[in-house]
Amino acid sequence: MVKAVVLGAAGGIGQPLSLLLKANPAVTELGLYDIVNTPGVAADLSHISTPAKVVGYLPPDDGLAKTLKGADIVVIPAGVPRKPGMTRDDLFKINAGIVRDLATGIAKAAPKAFVLVISNPVNSTVPIVAEVFKQHGVFDPKRLFGVTTLDVVRASTFVAEVIGDLGKAPSITVPVVGGHSGITIVPLLSQSSTPLPSGFAQAELEKLTNRIQYGGDEVVKAKDGAGSATLSMAYAGAEFAQKVIRAIKGEKGIVAPTFVHLSSEPAGGAALKKEIGKDLEYFSAPVELGPDGVASIKSLAKLTDYEKGLIDAAIPELATNIEKGVSFISASK
Ligand code: NAD
Ligand code: LMR
Repeated sequence: MVKAVVLGAAGGIGQPLSLLLKANPAVTELGLYDIVNTPGVAADLSHISTPAKVVGYLPPDDGLAKTLKGADIVVIPAGVPRKPGMTRDDLFKINAGIVRDLATGIAKAAPKAFVLVISNPVNSTVPIVAEVFKQHGVFDPKRLFGVTTLDVVRASTFVAEVIGDLGKAPSITVPVVGGHSGITIVPLLSQSSTPLPSGFAQAELEKLTNRIQYGGDEVVKAKDGAGSATLSMAYAGAEFAQKVIRAIKGEKGIVAPTFVHLSSEPAGGAALKKEIGKDLEYFSAPVELGPDGVASIKSLAKLTDYEKGLIDAAIPELATNIEKGVSFISASK
C-alpha cells in the first residue's frame, strides 16, 4: 500500500504529475492538495480504472492535514514558475513562504513521509524544508530529496540527439550533479552510458553542457510568459517518485542523482564533501535508494579536468543559495 500526495496538484506540473501517479499501479491512494481546483482534479482522475483511491482537498477545514494523513511519499510542485528574464532565485520571494508553510504541514501530519521537492529554487527550498523539519524535531536527511531528475532526463535526450538516435534516449544515463539552476547544474558527460561520438570537440562538449544547464530557459523562452517546463517535469517527477517507491518496496541497486543533505548519515555524505573540497550542506549526487530513503550517497567517480572546473564554478552559487534557504527559516523563528 502506497499513499502518494501532491501539494500544488492543480498546477501546470501538478495535474499531469497527478495523472502519472494515478496511472502508476503501485500507488493505492493519491492525495491532492492545492489552494484551488483540487476537488475537480480529484473527481476527474478518480474515474481512471487504476487502483489508487483519489482524494482532493482545499485549505479550509484542515485540508492540508487531511490530504497528508497516512502519506508515504509527498511531492511538492507548489509555487510560481519563471517568466522570461527571471532566474530561479527570483522565485524565492514567493515560493520560500509557500514551501515553508507546506513543510510545516508535513512536519505535523506526515513526519515520516519521503518528501520530494520540485518547487524552485530547489537549491534553497530543500534547505527550507530541512530547517522547518529540524524546528519540529522530525528532520531525517534520508527522507528529503530535491528533484533534479529533469536535468537527467534532458541530458539523456540531448545526448541521444547528438548521437542522432532518439530511440536510444530512454536507455542513456548521464549523471547530473551539483544543484538545479544554471551553472550549478553539472552534467558529467564523460560518464554517459553511451559515449559521445569519437572526435567530439571540446567546443561541442561545452555547447552540449550549456544546453543541459540552460534547458529550463529554452522552455521558458518558448512558452513566452506562460510558465516553465510542466509536462517534462511531470514525467521526470513521476519517474523519480517511482524509483523511491520501488526502493521502499525493497528493490535494490536503484541509483539516481538527487539534491540531498550531506552529513555523516546517510553514508557517503562526508566523503562527498571531501571529494568536492568544500563543506557544503547539500549537493546533488548519485544516490542509492533503499527502504528508508537515501541508503548511501555515491562518489562522483572519475571527473575530467573540464568537469572539475564546472564543479568548482558551481560551488559558490550553491553555497549562497543554500545559506539563503537556511537563514530564511532562522530569521522567521
Ligand atoms: P503553476 O503556477 O502552473 O502551478 C503551481 C500550483 O501551485 C498552482 O496550482 C497554485 O495554485 C499552487 N499553489 C500556490 N500556492 C500554494 C500553496 N500555498 N499550497 C498549495 N498549492 C499552492 O506552476 P508550475 O509550472 O506547476 O511550477 C511549479 C513550481 O515548480 C515552480 O516553482 C517551478 O519553478 C518549479 N519547477 C521545478 C522544476 C524542477 O526541475 N525541480 C521543473 C519545472 C518547474
Ligand atoms: C526547469 O529546469 O525546467 C525548471 O527548473 C523550471 C525553470 O524555471 O526553468
